Amino acid sequence: MLKPVKTLFSILLAGAISVNLAGQSNLPVYLNENKPIEERVEDALSRMTLEEKVAMCHAQSKFSSAGVPRLGIPENWATDGPHGIRPEVLWDEWDQAGWTNDSCVAFPALTCLAATWNKDMSALYGKSIGEEARYRNKNILLGPGVNIYRTPLNGRNFEYMGEDPFLASKMVVPYIQGVQANGVAACVKHYALNNQEIDRHTVNVNVDDRTLYEIYLPAFKAAVQEGNAWAIMGAYNRYKGQWACHNQYLLNDILRDEWGFDGVVVSDWGGVNNTMQAIYNGLDMEFGSWTDGLSEGASNAYDNYYLANPFLKLLYSGEVKVEEVDKKVRNILRLAFRTTMNTKRPWGSFGTPEHAAAGRKIAEEGIVLLKNNGVLPVDLNKTKKILVVGENAIKPMTVGGGSSSLKAKNEIAPLDGIMNRVGKQADVIYARGYVGDPTSEYNGVKLKRDLHDSRSAAELIEEATRLAKDADIVIFIGGLNKSDGQDSEGNDRKELNLSYGQDNVIAELAKANKNLVVVNISGNAIAMPWINEVPSIVQTWYNGTESGTALASILMGDANPSGKLPFTFPVKLDDNGAHKLGDYPGVDKEETYKEGLFVGYRWADKENVKPLFPFGHGLSYTTFEYGKVAADKKEMTADGKISFTVNVKNTGNRDGAEVVQLYISDLKSSLPRPVKELKGFEKVTLKAGEEKTVTFTVDKTALSYFDDKKHDWVAESGDFEAIIGASATDIKSKVGFKLK
Ligand code: BGC
Repeated sequence: MLKPVKTLFSILLAGAISVNLAGQSNLPVYLNENKPIEERVEDALSRMTLEEKVAMCHAQSKFSSAGVPRLGIPENWATDGPHGIRPEVLWDEWDQAGWTNDSCVAFPALTCLAATWNKDMSALYGKSIGEEARYRNKNILLGPGVNIYRTPLNGRNFEYMGEDPFLASKMVVPYIQGVQANGVAACVKHYALNNQEIDRHTVNVNVDDRTLYEIYLPAFKAAVQEGNAWAIMGAYNRYKGQWACHNQYLLNDILRDEWGFDGVVVSDWGGVNNTMQAIYNGLDMEFGSWTDGLSEGASNAYDNYYLANPFLKLLYSGEVKVEEVDKKVRNILRLAFRTTMNTKRPWGSFGTPEHAAAGRKIAEEGIVLLKNNGVLPVDLNKTKKILVVGENAIKPMTVGGGSSSLKAKNEIAPLDGIMNRVGKQADVIYARGYVGDPTSEYNGVKLKRDLHDSRSAAELIEEATRLAKDADIVIFIGGLNKSDGQDSEGNDRKELNLSYGQDNVIAELAKANKNLVVVNISGNAIAMPWINEVPSIVQTWYNGTESGTALASILMGDANPSGKLPFTFPVKLDDNGAHKLGDYPGVDKEETYKEGLFVGYRWADKENVKPLFPFGHGLSYTTFEYGKVAADKKEMTADGKISFTVNVKNTGNRDGAEVVQLYISDLKSSLPRPVKELKGFEKVTLKAGEEKTVTFTVDKTALSYFDDKKHDWVAESGDFEAIIGASATDIKSKVGFKLK
């Protein structure tokens, strides 16, 4: 009886020894990490049944898809993304699974990351969140998001990197590299043209090719070609009448054929609408669908996904060739070899103090000082009483907003951050000022603080202004929040102004105390009818775990602000092209981007409208003086380069950092072009009194536009200007040059 067992054991043992001796040579090719990945893909594919292949192309639960257990190929596990690792949900429902070990570090929102204008911060972000994902055994992180900020009403702008394709392109790359160094795929989203939440599942976006290539695609292209993203998520909306998740133009023509993407195209959750298109138009994996006649979450729904049984049936009947499923499975296998089957990937770490510190650093670098007539930083030697007013001072912001909602291990609200920092140095008192949205639950994650307050608006204002009269300094902390219709998925904002009567509260506080600081927490621009009455204004973001700590260190001057706006603050909605031209949010589910290329500062420049705060704007507690920009040559050849140098000096008495911006202007071109476009930026750290030279080197890509007739990038010879600015409107100097 024992003999066969013994024999089997000795066979296994012999096998193990021979593997040991000969490295991996006795392994099947697909398991041999010394073999080229493409050989491994083909080998694994050749061993798979049709059923196993199709099973890989669609979800098996809310966030997972099948591997091939028979071959030891693991399941794929995805997670939101993009600001922290989402808590575990039930297999088949959005509700929390009730784990007690899944509280993450919440990192600052991507608007904050973009506002750092610092690629090192993006690398730190990617590395840290990648480690969190890895520890939680996720191999696909659903982020980062790089949809362009077209309108300040878009409910999801907080998950993206602002209005400028160059800024977003540069910032997205280190994030992806940092994540993927952990053996976790970054899944860049939402490709493409998902620039609003209203009608997101149905709207058909009409945009000319030039605008598509110059404004809406560059960040995705950089993610693919420079970041080498291993996954990309299709968007919900339509383009040229086809849903973006299975779109011939976006996925087959551009992503695969033009850019050479070899990763996995994942659908947005429920973004698949048609089996034939899903088969032929570039999609690899279908997630989150709710299919015909089955309610969302029904346990057998996965078999009925467009890319499940309906796909299998077409393959069985021969109506669809096996080659179609093979194309998808090759991409999915490649993902497995890069992630779950990479035995050398690190182990990750989760909820660590290092990750919280990384989030704090990013937040401190991303907070933007919009205006400062002397109130900031708070001088604790001269301040006895600080009044903090506003719901956002006490409202945790990691919960809500849609799929990016988190269960944070810790979240230091602004009031707590200020109190911790001030300690006994001054009295910190708090008045609510207004009641916004006291609900604080999302998918079962509940907050500890009860935000309900039944007092009337008049009573709340009376209390706040009475206390304000008696304080040395008043810090109003308000803005938007993560509730529906604010900064939240699934809907857009209704207006540019703040809600809940905040404008009125601020105006009354300004009358009561001249030392007023307004801190706006949002992922979007807001109107500021009270701007002239308020001496100091700070823009901060949904900054996650350490949001209060980071804000306090900026307000008290421990950190010197160095963030710059990644999008324009218009005075009013009509100062934005999409709104001025009236096509937002579309008519009968058709929306034409009539403003074309003229998004954000490009519109403000063209129409000569003065923004409330321009793109690239941000102050410091020190001052910087710019020298005159110089070019290393007068003429550049088509395949050459040109360098621009400018000296920047810290002329104040504090150390600080300045983001030096290079814009290029094509003085004469055959097609209309924006007045200027960002083509370089550098954050320089300068000690008090220190001076540094900043150099930008560009080639003709910085001078090119996309010619839709030729379907190619064109740099036209002629006169150009290099413009150095501290923002899109604070122009320091210019130098002309020619392209031969
Ligand atoms: C969102 C995606 C998200 C997915 C999974 C969708 O509703 O649009 O960004 O990753 O849900 O939660």
